[in-house]
Amino acid sequence: MIVQINLDRLMSRIMELGKIGALEKGGVKRLALTDEDRMGRDLVCRWMAEAGLTVTTDLIGNTWGIREGREDDAPVIMGSHIDSVATGGLYDGVLGVLAGLEVIESLNDAGIPTKRPVGMAFFTNEEGARFAPDMMGSGVAQKALDLDEMLAVTGIDGTTVREELNRIGYAGTAPVMALRPHCFLELHVEQGPVLENENVAIGAVTGVQGISWTEYVVEGRSSHAGTTPMTMRRDAGVVAARIAAEARAIADDFGAPQVATVGMFELSPGLVNVVPERAMLTVDLRNTDDALLLDAETRLNAFAETVAAAEDCTLRRRSLARFAPVEFDQDLVAAVEEQASALGHTVRRMPSGAGHDAQMFAPNCPTAMIFVPSRDGLSHNIHEFTAPEQIGAGVDVLMQVVLNEAGTSR
Ligand code: GLV
Ligand code: MN
Ligand code: MN
Repeated sequence: MIVQINLDRLMSRIMELGKIGALEKGGVKRLALTDEDRMGRDLVCRWMAEAGLTVTTDLIGNTWGIREGREDDAPVIMGSHIDSVATGGLYDGVLGVLAGLEVIESLNDAGIPTKRPVGMAFFTNEEGARFAPDMMGSGVAQKALDLDEMLAVTGIDGTTVREELNRIGYAGTAPVMALRPHCFLELHVEQGPVLENENVAIGAVTGVQGISWTEYVVEGRSSHAGTTPMTMRRDAGVVAARIAAEARAIADDFGAPQVATVGMFELSPGLVNVVPERAMLTVDLRNTDDALLLDAETRLNAFAETVAAAEDCTLRRRSLARFAPVEFDQDLVAAVEEQASALGHTVRRMPSGAGHDAQMFAPNCPTAMIFVPSRDGLSHNIHEFTAPEQIGAGVDVLMQVVLNEAGTSR
């Protein structure tokens, strides 16, 4: 059975949600648990209600809507996130949430009942850009992260998850593990260049690489830039810069798929003629092989200790996120591949470089992801773009996998 989706409806919703937190030059800033996030949630919840879904919110603000099935069984869930980084695009996360809604509305329009219930969800703070770690809501929902620990996390602006969740009115009552899917599916933009470079329409995602985020705080002593001999400095900035350079050197030495990113780097007092007394930087290390990721972490941490000691500085290290690599369900990955081919699309298997809510479900239920191409491989960038017909192909594949998993009654 082929069910037509309404691509115009989906695209107009993606654009409408993209107006909330819109940036002047394009893209969005909808950091988790901000007023913009609340407005985005309100809009999606309105659409969920209009689609006739039963909407539930859990203790960390994850929200899902269920379309009943003929049988009262575990639902097929499609989901992702609607929060963004501070310079985000219109598609990252939003696509998986609104495509899930589109699949359900298309089933409604065609009057097609399913055996299993079918649902769609958005998860709190997937990005981790305001409150670390990433995949926070889905991690709590699936017991990979502790609820109370996560509610107590302080963000980059000094507020806590608990305060902000309450403030925006999305602290629900459904407990951890309330969402127990029969299977979990996430359609997402690739956020990298592989599909576009190879002119392939669909990525059947085999898993997600391991992620390690660490914050380093270096403390030295501020002193006069002109009068302090180089031998007498306790320069926190130089230590931080050397740690940053070592992160890059590790990625260069290890080679692909090891990647390393210094995304935050702050010096204080941050003045032209003062030796910095304090530095803070974050390092994001990722690898598909957990043993190699551990080697990279060990090398960087040892280097950081040595370089701080050599400059007579103190070093504090804090893990902000640590997730092992995840493999998706073989049968469900094969189903994505088969449905894509059956619909006439080119398809290839590939790992995900980005973290995703799906990885939190993978240990608990069959899970898979569908990728569609990203123009110039760009994401976490306001120019992120995927063409409507490319999106349509992904949603069609999603629909077919959902129909097979949920079972139709005619
Ligand atoms: C989160 O989505 C990440 O991959 O950083
Ligand atoms: Mn995402
Ligand atoms: Mn993202």
